[in-house]
This record gives sequence, structure tokens and C-alpha cells, in this order.
Amino acid sequence: MTAPEPTENSTAQFARDVRSGLSNKDQKTLPAKYFYDDVGSALFEAISVLPEYGLTRADEHLLRVHADAMAARIPPPVVVSELGSGTGKKTGWLLKTFCQRRPTVYYPIEISSGALARCEADLRLLDSISIVGLQRDYLDGLREVAARRATAEHILVLFLGSSIGNFDRNASERFLRRVREILQPGDSLLLGTDLEKPASQLIPAYDDPQGVTAAFNLNLLARINRELGANFELKHFQHIARFNQLERRIEMHLRSTIPQTVSIPKAGIAVTFREDETIWTESSYKYNLEEVARMATQAGFICDAQWVDEEWTFAESLFIVR
Ligand SMILES: C[S@@+](CC[C@H](N)C(=O)[O-])C[C@H]1O[C@@H](n2cnc3c(N)ncnc32)[C@H](O)[C@@H]1O
Repeated sequence: MTAPEPTENSTAQFARDVRSGLSNKDQKTLPAKYFYDDVGSALFEAISVLPEYGLTRADEHLLRVHADAMAARIPPPVVVSELGSGTGKKTGWLLKTFCQRRPTVYYPIEISSGALARCEADLRLLDSISIVGLQRDYLDGLREVAARRATAEHILVLFLGSSIGNFDRNASERFLRRVREILQPGDSLLLGTDLEKPASQLIPAYDDPQGVTAAFNLNLLARINRELGANFELKHFQHIARFNQLERRIEMHLRSTIPQTVSIPKAGIAVTFREDETIWTESSYKYNLEEVARMATQAGFICDAQWVDEEWTFAESLFIVR
């Protein structure tokens, strides 16, 4: 694993982001990327096998069934890089196909050191693979992969699990454009997107009866306690999942159940909450197939192929650079 550049003090950055998000007068927010410390990554793994959360199963099903067809559309030699790999469990299906064709280098890019270590340990068992884990932010990591590529190699970027849905629609377009700018003709991006479905199916996926997603959301406050010396009392916050029909997104919030003030010494703030006031912690936008294809064009790609799981409507779209 290649550790982050020493230029950024990650605790200081965390403190700045927490201060900025919780100082917002209209709607307090926290960036979703801070869910994934070791505890959060383990809780996400548990969420991904919950009966109510069909997203990961649909994503994995598509990769397992269509790995050969996906790989066949990408000219060799290919290096595979994954943005936010997590433990890379699903990616094994695709990597196996590439490795059967020729020895393949895989660069998982991940901010969670625990998830990245597991990804490297599990996928190393595949034949003919070399793994270079990069503990970096998405785009910093991808720039490094591009800098390391040999002249004839094509980069296949994987962005699975509908992590694109954590960006709002404008930010996701900007993000895809920045990915495109790093790539060259012959490169490609396989993008996983969760498709629109009834709220009655979505809400239990983000608010399961076992309380695993609630624990995942509340862990963000526990992490602020652990790393920034805060005194959040978790019993005075409640996990909420809402479907915003107009914006076509699930929103996760943490609702303060009483009026309270929380001190966060390492962020240099004390934050006052009204009863029922919420912290907005995550958005998960839902898409339709046509808009995913449009997103490709707007970012400077061509949408070459799409594969859809009809049971839990989910799509893998292959964007290519001409
Ligand atoms: C929702 S999980 C998805 C994991 C996996 N790709 C999947 O589909 O199951 C998002 C992953 O992206 C990582 N992540 C989030 N923001 C990131 C960022 N800005 N740079 C790199 N990794 C990030 C998290 O640590 C987490 O493991």
C-alpha cells in the first residue's frame, strides 16, 4: 500500500471539514467520505449483505454475469484502477477475466486504510495479478495511476456501488469531467449507478430494521468523538432516511432529539442544536438509463454499453474515450 502524501494533515483537514459543515446556519452537514474509518468500513460491509440492501448484490451480479462481455469491449493491454474500492469483493469477477487474458496490474484507490488492506490481501490470491494500493483521494490516486502507465497501456477506471450518487447532480458531472481529463483515447470508465425505484423499496435499504445503517450513520459522530475529542452523546441523535422525490435522492440525516450543545475541541467549536434539527450526512441520487448516457456525453465520453439488473434496478455503464 502506498500511504498518502505527507503534505495533508488528515486530522487537521477532518477538523476543518467538520467545523465548516457544522457551522452552516441553514442546514448542518458532514461530508460522507468521513463515514469510512475502520469501524465505518466494517459496518458498510455488513450493510452490503443486508436483505433490504439490494444494491451491492445487483452490482455484483452484473459484474459476475457480464465480466467477459465487459472485458471484450476493452482493448488490451489494460491496467485496472478502482475509485473507492472498499474491500474489492465484487471487483474480483472482472479482475479474474482480465488476468486470464494476461497478467494485470490493479490499482485500488481508497481513503480507508482498513478497507484497502483487506482489498489487497483478498485479491492478491488471484492468479497473474499485481496490486498497487493507493491510499489517496479519488482524483489524486487516478493522476498517480496515469503517471505510472506504460505507453501502450489503456486504463480502465471502475467506479462501482453507485458511489457517484453521493455527489449532487452538478458535482457528479464536474467529477466525471475531471476523470475524463486525466484519461486518454482508448481508456474507459465502468460506472455503477443505482436506478430509480419506489420509495417503499428504497427506504428500508437505508433504514433497515436491524439498525445497521443507523449504526453506520451514528459512527460519524462517534468518530468525531474519537478523533477530535468531541462529546456527542449518541443516544440524543437519531438516524433518519428520507426519499426526496423532487431531487430523486435518498437523504440520510442525524436528528438531534433534544436541544443540546456539543463541544468539538480539535475543531475549535461548540455547536448548538435545536430539538429536531438535523445534520445531513449523505445523499444517494437515483438515475435513469438515458441520463446516465447523457452524463457520459456531457463529460466527454461515449456511452458504449449498458448492463441492467432488473430485480434491483441497477446499471453498469461502460464509458469510453475516443
Ligand atoms: C459506498 S463505499 C463503496 C465500496 C465499493 N466500491 C462498493 O461498491 O462496494 C465507498 C468507498 O469509497 C471510499 N471513499 C469515499 N470517498 C473517497 C474519496 N474521496 N477518495 C477515495 N476513496 C473514497 C470509502 O472509504 C468507501 O470504501
